[in-house]
Amino acid sequence: MMKDRLEALRREALDQLETVADAAALNDLRVHYLGKKGQLTEILRGMGSLSAEERPIIGQVGNEVRAAIEEVISQKQQMFDRADTARRLQAETIDVTLPGKTPSVGAVHPLNKVAQEIEDIFIGMGYSIAEGPEVETDFFNFEALNLPKNHPARDMQDSFYITEEILLRTHTSPVQIRTMKAMNGQTPVKVICPGKVYRRDDDDATHSFMFHQIEGLVIGPNIRMSDLKGTLLQFVREMYGPQVQIRLRPSFFPFTEPSAEVDVTCVRCGGQGCRMCKQTGWIEILGCGMVHPKVLEHGGYDPAEVTGFAFGMGVERIALLKYEIDDIRHFYANDVRFLGQFARM
Ligand code: DAH
Repeated sequence: MMKDRLEALRREALDQLETVADAAALNDLRVHYLGKKGQLTEILRGMGSLSAEERPIIGQVGNEVRAAIEEVISQKQQMFDRADTARRLQAETIDVTLPGKTPSVGAVHPLNKVAQEIEDIFIGMGYSIAEGPEVETDFFNFEALNLPKNHPARDMQDSFYITEEILLRTHTSPVQIRTMKAMNGQTPVKVICPGKVYRRDDDDATHSFMFHQIEGLVIGPNIRMSDLKGTLLQFVREMYGPQVQIRLRPSFFPFTEPSAEVDVTCVRCGGQGCRMCKQTGWIEILGCGMVHPKVLEHGGYDPAEVTGFAFGMGVERIALLKYEIDDIRHFYANDVRFLGQFARM
């Protein structure tokens, strides 16, 4: 009897589904019982030989059997889906309490750090920042600064010449002239000019063919040497501490008159005398003076109406003293063991 066969199929299918192990086996059972060439279709194919009264009854039973099997298959499918999700969540668990990978963070180079500090001090005193080219003309680097053609600083020994009239600037002083010309005779001029400079020196603990300077220039109707001295004292105290003193020693620069070299209280011994200051208690930090009348003229100013002061310092030197570093070459070697020490200073 067809009805008995259908009932037997239902029992067998539900039995098998009871113990089905996984989603793949479930799919096999689906194909086996309900597929196009499956068991149910196979049985129902015999419907053609049934009488007109029997046909709808068997058809009805066939539909019930199909629905019952589909119902269990869908329950099992949901069960496997849930188990699958749970397994994935378990496998992909992230322990947010594990320590992360710390990226290595760079630090500002000590020379840039000191340069920025110097800039900040002068910006605090109302200065602005001016810049000029590293490849400079003979006129700006020497001539306009009152360095006559036969001056020793113009010797081929000291400068990197590119042509007879073009060279790598040997100091930041040419930016004085460029600034004055750009100001077109206006006052006040109050700038600092940081940058790289180049000299034909043999590299050693205190010399480098390339180093950094910061130039200062102030021009106005009544600028005096006492303004220069007060400005520099304020600068060194902000840089090295309120206890330091300065002293000005007479000196010579072609672009200033009078000229001076400035010493600061030895930062290591506080003025007592030590190896660092050669027992003098003082350390030289910069050159300065009152802007030479000829330099004012070259910059487009009338020395009868305005005066000015200027100074120039080496950033490396200021940094060596501040951090008590013994060799300038450390700054250029890019050894992170050296550079890393300044990250938190
Ligand atoms: N240009 C000088 C040098 O490189 C430093 C200097 C001295 C700059 C005196 C100045 C100054 O502006 O007034 O050695």
